[in-house]
Amino acid sequence: MSADLDSEKLLAATAAVRRVRPGMRIALGTGSTTAYAVRALVDRFPEGGGISAVASSSLTERLARELGLKVGPLLASDRFDVMIDGADEVAPTLDLTKGGGGALFREKFLARLSRELIIMVDHTKLVPALGTRSAIPVEVVPFARPVLVEQLALHRVASVVRTQSDGERPFLTDNGNEILDLRPPDPVTDPARLDDQLRSMPGVVETGLFCGLAHRVFVGLPDGTVQEILPSHPVQAVS
Ligand code: A5P
Repeated sequence: MSADLDSEKLLAATAAVRRVRPGMRIALGTGSTTAYAVRALVDRFPEGGGISAVASSSLTERLARELGLKVGPLLASDRFDVMIDGADEVAPTLDLTKGGGGALFREKFLARLSRELIIMVDHTKLVPALGTRSAIPVEVVPFARPVLVEQLALHRVASVVRTQSDGERPFLTDNGNEILDLRPPDPVTDPARLDDQLRSMPGVVETGLFCGLAHRVFVGLPDGTVQEILPSHPVQAVS
């Protein structure tokens, strides 16, 4: 990652954390931009500010704990004031591709429990259509994986099993599942439809397509400023 893109992530993360208020219950995403946000949170609230958090991955949870943030398990009645998270792709509609860090299930689960999902990205994540910059991650039950790969191929969707750093063993999510990285043959013009189609396949746990969930996107720009993008349509309300 270039230093410039890191600076952009930091800018976006700092802008997102400015929206966190003392006493809030918050959800934390996963990835390098979220890590900047966790550090920015600690800088903003050195005494904790009465903030409590639930993390979308063991990685984020560990970092937040090490830095002194109050992080705990998900509670039965949890609703979050805000969730802050990164993304791999942001479409003009604010639909997203996520899951580059493999935490897509928990990220989407927490996002649906959040009154506001704030996304933080560097400028390279803005795309005209999803599936043009990154693969689309899908969390699958390991037992079902060979069949799913075959079924996807029949629909001209190439998929690759994500591996650990040794390049051999499958990467396992915090839920004990595997990730298939999908390369649809064309840019994804209707991500909600593709999300439905994929989730209807037995063995698919969740997809990295986040449709209609983002309330606000902060984009760090090369000139050192931050662009704030709001959706042009109403975003799903938390029940
Ligand atoms: C984690 O599973 C992902 O959804 C990340 O939020 C996404 O991959 C963005 O990661 P970076 O902040 O590291 O770019």
